[in-house]
Amino acid sequence: MHLELERSLGAEQLPFRPERVKELRAARRNPARRKAAALEELRRELAPCCRCELGKARKNLVFGVGRPDADLMFIGEGPGQQEDEQGIPFVGLAGQLLTKIIEAIGLTRDEVYIANIVKCRPPGNRPPLPEESALCLPYLRRQIEIIRPRIIVTLGNVPTQTLLQTAAGITKMRGIFVERDGALFLPTFHPAYLLRDPAKKKEVWEDMKTVWAKMRALGLKIGELKSAR
Ligand code: URA
Repeated sequence: MHLELERSLGAEQLPFRPERVKELRAARRNPARRKAAALEELRRELAPCCRCELGKARKNLVFGVGRPDADLMFIGEGPGQQEDEQGIPFVGLAGQLLTKIIEAIGLTRDEVYIANIVKCRPPGNRPPLPEESALCLPYLRRQIEIIRPRIIVTLGNVPTQTLLQTAAGITKMRGIFVERDGALFLPTFHPAYLLRDPAKKKEVWEDMKTVWAKMRALGLKIGELKSAR
């Protein structure tokens, strides 16, 4: 199809780059590279998205960051101001706390994958509307399908209720694994909530120890558990 298209556009010959063929073959053999390429393709597909009002007002689309073959994924609600400015999820104050939470179980941001339910900033940091989440959700689902994490930590009500299709609140859901579509979901409080109510860090620490123990039990790569902060 690609060649037919090139021909219809007037091409009579195409450059042959043996190193590109080698790259493509290597990518096919190496799952991490294959996943990275699939994520990049999805990111490109999504880049011009303006399906909802959020897309029209954004500075940057916030696709997701981290290891394309991560065993552990964190999912938040939607980008805030800092994330919109930088195009990277969880880089503001709540993000700095999330980074510490990840490091507390002996991992780094580069070793996990971080994404959100919606990829564009809701105005005034309001929660995304159900129709905004519904329009964006297929892209997050494709990210999950490509990465295939074993454990997914949902941060707060919005990702927990959206992905687990429940009306139950985070206080009831947190700390208990739910198995769905081949992954284990572990809901916990959103780091922005911890900034407002630091006493709740205790519960998140308990939840992260649960994640750490499960990763150990599954034989997944995990570092040393740090002491509670
Ligand atoms: N809060 C979120 O839910 N996601 C971000 O990326 C930043 C803050």
